[in-house]
Amino acid sequence: MKITKICCIGAGYVGGPTMAIIAQKCPEITVTVVDINEERIAKWNDKDVNNIPIYEPGLSEIVGEARGRNLFFSTDVDKGIDEADLIFISVNTPTKTYGAGKGMAADLKYIELCARQIARVSKNDKIIVEKSTLPVRTAEAIKSILDNTGNGVQFQILSNPEFLAEGTAVEDLLNPDRVLIGGDTTPEGQKAIQALEDVYAHWVPRERILRTNVWSSELSKLTANAYLAQRVSSINALSELCEKTGADVNEVARAIGMDSRIGSKFLKASVGFGGSCFQKDILNLVYISKSFGLNEVADYWEQVIIMNDHQKRRFANNIVKTLYNTVSDKKIAFLGWAFKKDTNDTRESAAIYVANDLVNENAKIAVYDPKVSQKQVLADLDYLETRNSIENAKFVTSFSDAYEACNNAHAIAILTEWDEFKQLDWNKIYDQMQKPAFVFDGRNLLDGDKLKKIGFVYQAIGS
Ligand code: UDX
Ligand code: ADP
Repeated sequence: MKITKICCIGAGYVGGPTMAIIAQKCPEITVTVVDINEERIAKWNDKDVNNIPIYEPGLSEIVGEARGRNLFFSTDVDKGIDEADLIFISVNTPTKTYGAGKGMAADLKYIELCARQIARVSKNDKIIVEKSTLPVRTAEAIKSILDNTGNGVQFQILSNPEFLAEGTAVEDLLNPDRVLIGGDTTPEGQKAIQALEDVYAHWVPRERILRTNVWSSELSKLTANAYLAQRVSSINALSELCEKTGADVNEVARAIGMDSRIGSKFLKASVGFGGSCFQKDILNLVYISKSFGLNEVADYWEQVIIMNDHQKRRFANNIVKTLYNTVSDKKIAFLGWAFKKDTNDTRESAAIYVANDLVNENAKIAVYDPKVSQKQVLADLDYLETRNSIENAKFVTSFSDAYEACNNAHAIAILTEWDEFKQLDWNKIYDQMQKPAFVFDGRNLLDGDKLKKIGFVYQAIGS
């Protein structure tokens, strides 16, 4: 079976970049990305490719090349589904905020709506690929909906988890460590796997494309993220011990990272991990384990999140403690709001939680992030529902210039490791601040010795 038309439901951080690369690498395949969010689709279609809604280095150039040729963005979900041989489901699966599994299980309502829509619209056989992060056995649920509500057409369900990291999505997609495709072991299932494999084989060496059963594929995605998050929580746990004992966490990380069995990646101590995947996926793992009565397994993984919450809280507490136990009415500048550099995504960013704790102490927060708007900063705080949006707006303001954000501040907190923060004129910033001027480096980004020479009181994580 040869795929000629692909539809992707969901034009977000996963669907958008993934489809842009497929379109670029497979010019003979028509790729249509559909979404119910009209504003988002309008931005993807903006004449100026720099206005696309997702910031990823290198992405706008690729969209510019493929859009209108074989890459299309549309709000007509029905038409997209109807015309496609292969459909990626790439809608969001946030953690449930209500009912059973609240705060832990994935909310599958968007997935279910998609499955029902596909069943209603489809008039010919199709391959359905789950691309969103989903708890194990979601494919089974999708299959049951499709088979029981469809028009008698055949569906093959594949799991093809996305391993791209935001900020490096283009590079990760062009040169993936592996592509994982889970499907049925039946001949029809294997045929569907082959069809998707042939799409990726346009640019990915076949030996890097792994075939598994559907459930292994789904669980591998959760496990990969749980392992990565665990490494961050492990080094963050050690960072606190380093602060107490005089060891330097960066030196420890370097020393253990040179052990080839451990490896050097994901050993950077920080104010805590964020992003839409780590916490959500671990919570899923915890929820699934609990639902099978595996309490020790659930507790083991939950500890990774407990440690991460502790790290964020500890960072905020340390600011308060160091500023003579009061930050009331003090201006604290946040450099960075995104959950990591080179993305405009703020989901679960540590900055949100640190800001929330400091606002509880009546601090005035001044945010500068090169890619995040004031609207987004306030929406993130409002989402926590700790206080109403009018209160949040009284305490938190965004600036489009780092110097303005830092002007008159008592302290600066580095929340995102944007490269440009290293290039700032730190002498100028120091002159404009209240004294003593503090820098709390939540990313171990800056040259502490240089800042101390200027006159700053400088504190980094884990040293
Ligand atoms: C992650 C996985 O890496 C990716 O494979 C999966 O598809 C989605 O989830 P992402 O969340 O985009 O990707 O970013 P990632 O680079 O993994 O970083 C997650 C968080 O951990 C960030 O907040 C980052 O700043 C933090 N982190 C990462 C650290 O604090 N220290 C590190 O050493 C590495
Ligand atoms: P991710 O990081 O997983 O890509 P996003 O939230 O960035 O998550 O993107 C998911 C997209 O899916 C959103 O733009 C949302 O509007 C879209 N979406 C959710 N449900 C549907 C649906 N039933 N039909 C079409 N699009 C949907």
